Amino acid sequence: MNIRDLLTQRFSLAMAAAGIPAECAPHVAPSKNPQFGDYQANGAMGAAKAMGRKPRDIAQEILDNVELDDLADKTEIAGPGFINVHLRPAWLAQQLKQQSCEAQSSDSPQTIVVDYSSPNLAKEMHVGHLRSTIIGDSLARVLEFMGHKVIRQNHVGDWGTQFGMLTAELEEQLGQNQAASMALKDLEQFYQQAKKHFDDDPAFADKARDYVVKLQGGDAKLLELWDKFRDVSLEHGEELYQALGVTLKRSDVKGESFYNDDLAKVVSELKEQGLAVEDDGAIVVFLEELADKEGNPSVVIIQKKGGGYLYATTDLAAMRHRVGELKADRIMYFIDARQSLHMKQVFTLAHKAGFVSEAVSLEHHAFGTMMGEDGTPFKTRSGGTVKLADLTTEAVERANALVEAKNPELSAQERAEVARKVGIGAVKYADLSKTRTNDYIFSWESMLSFEGNTAPYLQYAYARIQSIFRRADIQADDLNVDLHLAAAEEQALALKLLRFDETLEQVAKEAFPHVLCTYLYETASLYMKFYEACPILKDGVSEADKMSRLQLCAATATVLRTGLDLLGIETMEKM
Ligand code: ARG
Repeated sequence: MNIRDLLTQRFSLAMAAAGIPAECAPHVAPSKNPQFGDYQANGAMGAAKAMGRKPRDIAQEILDNVELDDLADKTEIAGPGFINVHLRPAWLAQQLKQQSCEAQSSDSPQTIVVDYSSPNLAKEMHVGHLRSTIIGDSLARVLEFMGHKVIRQNHVGDWGTQFGMLTAELEEQLGQNQAASMALKDLEQFYQQAKKHFDDDPAFADKARDYVVKLQGGDAKLLELWDKFRDVSLEHGEELYQALGVTLKRSDVKGESFYNDDLAKVVSELKEQGLAVEDDGAIVVFLEELADKEGNPSVVIIQKKGGGYLYATTDLAAMRHRVGELKADRIMYFIDARQSLHMKQVFTLAHKAGFVSEAVSLEHHAFGTMMGEDGTPFKTRSGGTVKLADLTTEAVERANALVEAKNPELSAQERAEVARKVGIGAVKYADLSKTRTNDYIFSWESMLSFEGNTAPYLQYAYARIQSIFRRADIQADDLNVDLHLAAAEEQALALKLLRFDETLEQVAKEAFPHVLCTYLYETASLYMKFYEACPILKDGVSEADKMSRLQLCAATATVLRTGLDLLGIETMEKM
């Protein structure tokens, strides 16, 4: 159990013993300032209000009843009624020795669907897909680590109107004896060709429109062409996932096409319930719940005039599948903030229609836009969209040059490996470490810096610890000696390391990976302070101190490696 939960338990018992009503919570939180102890219990104020008594009196009664002798060496009441708890260094040491940082099993595991990445397959993946892919993957890893059943869903766009044009183009190119793999070698170029063809040649455009209808109606020949295209595009995505260290697999792909058979049923059920009505030939739902300031209901179109279905219809069908077949307790969507209204509409409608029970949590975790250094959306020099493949290549190249300058002793092979981990890590961390909901500025220079809150800084901190073990000629696993936390720097570091679980719980709840980044950065910074204040391998350091401090080093390395891994970032022994 983490410290916060343990203290909450102790304070709850004390509050009950003091006759405080059960609905008053102890409100245990880490102290902002070490002067006020390590943790605070802030529940006395609320309890006093509920009982019409003085907060400091209540705080005293809680203190009289709380059993903390084993873990705290000092408690005090501060300000209006805060209870400060100073933890015992010996207790911290004992807790740290028990901390394992291994994947956990949850007492209350949930089935959690994580919808992320989800690119449209018509084109190559570009920077617009980066945030969803990276943030979603990190959350999937964290939730899995905490013992939940995570079902990744890559809701790719593989069924839109563009597929009429793309299959028509592919058919023509294959007719000219081109192999599909050749014709689709460059997806972006293929798309541009098809688009040009569509714009310039009305007969081709008519054919393309005809093909969408046929395709969605199940025409075998078109399905075959579509499948070829889809396969090449998915493969391209998989190469990128691999380069980025993203855990999505082909089996996680459940694209828009998967829900085709349920779309008519979704519409008819909404009609039967009286929720959907015909409006100017289309089928629409008016949601009073989301009415604007003038009272006009929010309009969701679920079937177009000609019979075609829409993005919202597919999302409703997907929710039915996720709840009905996948048995989700919680569904998390990592999608750009610009789709917020769409998500609100489909969530409201799914609950209203009973497709998803109120017990299932539907969550849109929105994120802002990736900006260039000029403060406008990130583009190539010539103003085009940046392909993800080019971005990952550039990241590794830049890291390679940097590593070469920093450590010329590495062999070319070692350097390539380090550069890959540093370059990709830097791109991912730069994204994950910013508050998800804000826009952020993409800057090669700051993300690749070895100072500050960056991946290279954390990877370097980890590698430095490994080099200490090499110099000491000791395996971290073999250390089994007393841990004693004498210096303030040792205590501060140990307490931080013990907050790993608390941090993950917060990330899992709020889906903000930057909380984990900040935690790791603070851990590395406290480690550097400890390292400066407490010599390890210097002459004159006692064997007991050396071994104890090496254990702190090992615990720090474990937290850094595990934490970075949960962000999808690799570490290395040397860099
Ligand atoms: N394919 C969509 C896009 O590129 C994103 C899909 C997100 N997931 C969802 N269930 N709507 O904008």
